[in-house]
Amino acid sequence: TIHGFLVVAAVLYAVITSSVMIVIGRRFVMIVERKNQAEAEYRYSLTRVRENSESIALLGGAKEEREGLDRSLSAVIHHWSLLAGQHVRATVVSQGSSLIVPIVPLLLCSPKYLEGSMTLGQMMQAASAFAFVQSAFGWLVDNYPRFADWTANASRVASLMVSLDRLEAEGAEVDNRIRHKVTTGSTAVSLENVSVALDDGKMVLNEFSLSVGHGDRVLIEGESGTGKSTLVRAIAGLWPWGQGNVGVSTGRLLLLPQKSYLPSGTLGRAVAYPEAPNRWSTSQLCNALAKVGLMHLQSQLDCDLPWDQILSGGEKQRLAFARLLLHRPDIIVLDEATSALDAPSQRRMMQLLQAEMGHATIISIGHRADLSAYHSRRVRIGAQRSDRLALSVAVP
Ligand SMILES: Nc1ncnc2c1ncn2[C@@H]1O[C@H](COP(=O)(O)OP(=O)(O)OP(=O)(O)O)[C@@H](O)[C@H]1O
Ligand SMILES: [Mg+2]
Repeated sequence: TIHGFLVVAAVLYAVITSSVMIVIGRRFVMIVERKNQAEAEYRYSLTRVRENSESIALLGGAKEEREGLDRSLSAVIHHWSLLAGQHVRATVVSQGSSLIVPIVPLLLCSPKYLEGSMTLGQMMQAASAFAFVQSAFGWLVDNYPRFADWTANASRVASLMVSLDRLEAEGAEVDNRIRHKVTTGSTAVSLENVSVALDDGKMVLNEFSLSVGHGDRVLIEGESGTGKSTLVRAIAGLWPWGQGNVGVSTGRLLLLPQKSYLPSGTLGRAVAYPEAPNRWSTSQLCNALAKVGLMHLQSQLDCDLPWDQILSGGEKQRLAFARLLLHRPDIIVLDEATSALDAPSQRRMMQLLQAEMGHATIISIGHRADLSAYHSRRVRIGAQRSDRLALSVAVP
């Protein structure tokens, strides 16, 4: 049996130690959050340096990068030392409490023992019962560091969910959103008075309109920074902020972004991307590579190498054309897809596109004068002038 006053004392004792722990560890969660963030930033900077090591070496930026990494590492060490301090204080409270726990009931029972109303055996029994009850109530004190860690991780996930919910709620207000539709009419891609708003409220593509019929080949030109890549984002529905209507017909759309992307893994995966490499046979993959002049890579389709670093800028662009030949999309959007190619290679790629993908609607963006020969229409962004072109290469 345990005396009533000892139960009250056990609860009181737990409340006091838990309160001390909460006061001492009140910055614990914040420090864990900041430590996680500092670690994530450090890992990200290391990865970024590793991926761009060649450009950094060519620019001679090693010293500056090292200083940046050192600053990032110092932040990690600083947050780890703050965290270690918190652990020390938490340990002092929890270990101190477990050292005092056996003495408290003895002190509380001692008057009764001295009075003679309690035997030594009863006092020892009461003391061990007190310790049991106390250990149940002292859960928070024993687990505070783990609890803080869990809270920090949960609040990170919760803040992401809150941001996503806010984005969804804002999405309901259609006034400042570009309306994106899938259409079935005679136009493959239509843009009506599309304006795209940037983060700072600046508008690019002021009320841009364009209608592209099925099988049309439109070349979009404009000075650097006028919003050509932004237009590609609007067509893909990636950038919802702005005004106007975008309609894209049903069928497969494939965009070649200005910054080419190769996934990690085998070369076969890079060619087949975004589909899985086993969608096509090795001979189909080899055939596509041969058509774009990458015969020398045919034997390496199964090699898992850092292809993003190995291939030259022009080779990556030709690989993107091999992707087009495999996927055979109905609508193709090329954002400066031939910018790294010499004139004969560009001619070869564009002629290949015309010969193999005669059915496809093509919207291409480019600065090079000789590109217009492969398009039926030319649109200038900025002035928004539209010219009809005579196709120099017959469309099959
Ligand atoms: N995420 C962004 N946040 C803020 N501004 C942006 C963002 N993306 C683009 N911009 C700005 O919008 C403008 C248009 O950019 P965009 O990339 O569309 O130009 P572009 O016509 O494709 O140029 P280039 O011919 O050099 O590729 C630029 O001034 C650019 O700085
Ligand atoms: Mg661009």
